[in-house]
Formats: sequence, structure tokens, C-alpha cells
Amino acid sequence: MQTERKCDCGVDHWERVNDILRKNQGRDGALIDVLHQTQDVYGYLPEEAMTMIAEGLNLSLSKVYGVATFYSLYSLKPKGKHIIRLCESAPCHLRGAMDVLQTIEDELSLKAGQTTEDNRFTLELTSCLGVCGVAPAMMIGDRVYGNLTPEKIKEILRSYD
Ligand code: FES
Repeated sequence: MQTERKCDCGVDHWERVNDILRKNQGRDGALIDVLHQTQDVYGYLPEEAMTMIAEGLNLSLSKVYGVATFYSLYSLKPKGKHIIRLCESAPCHLRGAMDVLQTIEDELSLKAGQTTEDNRFTLELTSCLGVCGVAPAMMIGDRVYGNLTPEKIKEILRSYD
């Protein structure tokens, strides 16, 4: 069953989620793809969308929440315009990732897992980004930064609006 609803922001997110549900109807393993595509629509997974997904795929809401909260790539809260993913795996850790983390937290007045008050940045810790040769490393959006130092971090952060 497809639900028709209007979003408060004026954008017809609901129709886009209904489209996603229609395209994945009856497909085995659709939940992961539907969650992924829905998060692309909103930037996160709002409660209303999770309810639509449960109804649309004929699953229990608890199952949808279970999957959405199990995988760290899904977020149930809105994120900032720029998402910083700082690697905390051993090679980066050994090469100063915690100093980099402290610099980011100080510069943006936030802690890992938080979003700045102006919604510009969200800071997340992640495992290996696959660029250990330039540890410590982070990504902002799709761009990778390596050989990070506190000084370099300040310059990088200033380059984002
Ligand atoms: Fe940090 Fe691989 S350990 S990029």
C-alpha cells in the first residue's frame, strides 16, 4: 500500500519515496536499497519515511528500524551540508588522527557525531578509508584529504562555505 502525504518543506519528498517503493515492490532484499535511496532524497531517514517504507514493503516498522540503526551508513538525524569522515583506524591513529580530531572539534565547536549549530558540518569517525599511505586521512563529501596536520585542517575547513 502506497501512502500519499505532503512534506512541510514544500518539496514533494513523499512522491519520490513512493517512486522508490514502486520500483522496488516485491523485490527480495529491497529494504537496503530503499533505505539508501530514501536517504539520498532527504539526507537522512526521517521517521515518516521509515513508516512509509514499512508500509510500502509490507514489513514491520521495527524491522525497518532494526536495519536502519544496524548500519552506520544510515542516519536517523539530519546532517550538516558537509560531512567530515575522519579515519580512526590504527594507521591513522598512530600517525596523529587524534590530534586532527581535537583540532576539528576545537575549530568547529563540536564533538564527533555532532553537527555544527549552523548545519555546515557534521563530524563522524570512520574506519579505514583505504588511503593508509597518506594517514592520517579524512573525507569531506567525496573528497579525500591525507597527511593531515592541525595546520592543514584549519586551512581545509576554511575552504568550505
Ligand atoms: Fe586510515 Fe586506512 S587506516 S585510511
